[in-house]
Amino acid sequence: MVISVTNLKGGVGKTTVSINIAVGLALKGYSICLVDSDREQRSATEWRDNRTKEEPHVTVVSVSEKQFTSEIKALRAKFDIVLIDGVPQLSELAQYTIGVSDLVLIPITPSLIDYRGFETFFKKFKEIKTMKEEIGGSVLGAVVMNRVQRNRLVNEIPEAVESYGIKLLKNRMADRLAYKDTFTEGLGVLEYRDEKAKDEVRGMVNEIEEILKTI
Ligand SMILES: Nc1ncnc2c1ncn2[C@@H]1O[C@H](COP(=O)(O)OP(=O)(O)OP(=O)(O)O)[C@@H](O)[C@H]1O
Ligand SMILES: [Mg+2]
Repeated sequence: MVISVTNLKGGVGKTTVSINIAVGLALKGYSICLVDSDREQRSATEWRDNRTKEEPHVTVVSVSEKQFTSEIKALRAKFDIVLIDGVPQLSELAQYTIGVSDLVLIPITPSLIDYRGFETFFKKFKEIKTMKEEIGGSVLGAVVMNRVQRNRLVNEIPEAVESYGIKLLKNRMADRLAYKDTFTEGLGVLEYRDEKAKDEVRGMVNEIEEILKTI
């Protein structure tokens, strides 16, 4: 199974979502390979380097851009779940990332809703999904609301998302220090002391597990 976390905009929480989902699925007993596809920032690799906790084990690798699809295919055969931390542009690599995925998680922040550019991403996603379906494949998309505060704009998202055939996860991540602090400690919030953050990620991981069962 391949899950990717991608969006066309930087700083919306791709790495934060990737790390926390990776730890959550690893705690459930899945063998996880987190792929750091952002060769410029290497944030997932930095998180791995910060991590001193051995259990649950999360393998973190980077892959070459040239051999991307074949390397992901090889990892897919070795691990229960390959989780790709995506790049922040709608580059060729981002399109290949969607192409190799069974499920694409799309983090969106309330400020991104203001920006509206996320619709460009949804259109591209739909295009790739249609192409995949024409050759007998499939890919699901699900939006993850991140850094949510009491903000009425959040209510505008569901309609826009559904018109692109993309799900919206019910569990959202609020803006919490725990997400920042755990990064520097190489932890997921499920391994940390903020109960609210834990509930959010636990709910999200359960939701993702349910989606995976339908694939
Ligand atoms: N829910 C949250 N609460 C608090 N801080 C957050 C949250 N989500 C992300 N952040 C912080 O926002 C910054 C950007 O997040 P992150 O690195 O996960 O985004 P990204 O989409 O991977 O960015 P890039 O496009 O640069 O790869 C980080 O400092 C991260 O700690
Ligand atoms: Mg990142």
